[in-house]
Amino acid sequence: MKRIVLITGASRGIGAETARVLGQRGDHVIVNYREKRKRAETIAAQIVAAGGSASVAGADIADPDSAAGLMAAVIADFGRLDVLILNASGGLERDAAPDYAMRLNRDAQTRLARLAVPHLPPGGRIVFVTSHQAHFSRTRPVPAGYEPIAASKRAGEDALRAMIPEFTSSGIDFTVVSGDMIDGTIIVRLLERRDPEAVTGRRAHGQLPTVEEFATAVADATTVTAEPGHTIHVGGADFAAAHQVENRWRRTESHASIA
Ligand SMILES: NC(=O)c1ccc[n+]([C@@H]2O[C@H](COP(=O)([O-])OP(=O)(O)OC[C@H]3O[C@@H](n4cnc5c(N)ncnc54)[C@H](OP(=O)(O)O)[C@@H]3O)[C@@H](O)[C@H]2O)c1
Repeated sequence: MKRIVLITGASRGIGAETARVLGQRGDHVIVNYREKRKRAETIAAQIVAAGGSASVAGADIADPDSAAGLMAAVIADFGRLDVLILNASGGLERDAAPDYAMRLNRDAQTRLARLAVPHLPPGGRIVFVTSHQAHFSRTRPVPAGYEPIAASKRAGEDALRAMIPEFTSSGIDFTVVSGDMIDGTIIVRLLERRDPEAVTGRRAHGQLPTVEEFATAVADATTVTAEPGHTIHVGGADFAAAHQVENRWRRTESHASIA
């Protein structure tokens, strides 16, 4: 039986590539988008043309009614959900309200997780996608202009981690995937404009991971066997190395190998 996988924010970038990888691996992927229906439909059509199975589902996950409607539509269409990938993120948009980053990157994540829990079977999984700049924001400098995103994404991760007992009691796994700046993405292009040194500084540590590498790690996170709350790091070995020195007691961390 195909797994039913909902990926938030899969109309472009890392979410779209994760959908392609999981579609190739035999899952049915639901490509969530907020505004860009055509782009989401193109991604789903490409997955189907490549022999996979995919559908689209529009919803603004920061809107409580829209998020509830999304989960209701998934259950109406498929009867269940096996994997929820919390990938959608934002807050750098020019017209974003001051509280939008927290509403999307924290509140919408826990809300969607809570909506999913009753439908995820034992062995089901929630994956949270984040950046090193957010995950390590308490101990490492954050690029200029990215501070509200880093704070809200870290708050989202913490709030989801606080739900681990709830996930575990329903037999649901929870995995975090954190990546360095990902080459060629719109976010890195925006950061390059706002804080060019932050981006050149990361490039000085080696080649940035590609979208394909990061998306593959996110796809792998849907099957990895690990403790609840395990974090997979992609790129930026210096972040993880410094973190390991600071937290020698922590065992639930790993580093995805990048070719
Ligand atoms: N880019 C990087 O360098 C990098 C590095 C590490 C981690 N990450 C993480 O990877 C994830 C994806 O990043 P990305 O660079 O691929 O992002 P992106 O290019 O900005 O794409 C964002 C996606 O999220 C959707 N979205 C935005 N707001 C939404 C909302 N309120 N409701 C539903 N969907 C919404 C967008 O849909 P529409 O276009 O339809 O609005 C789009 O599909 C994020 O969690 C990010 O923190 C990124």
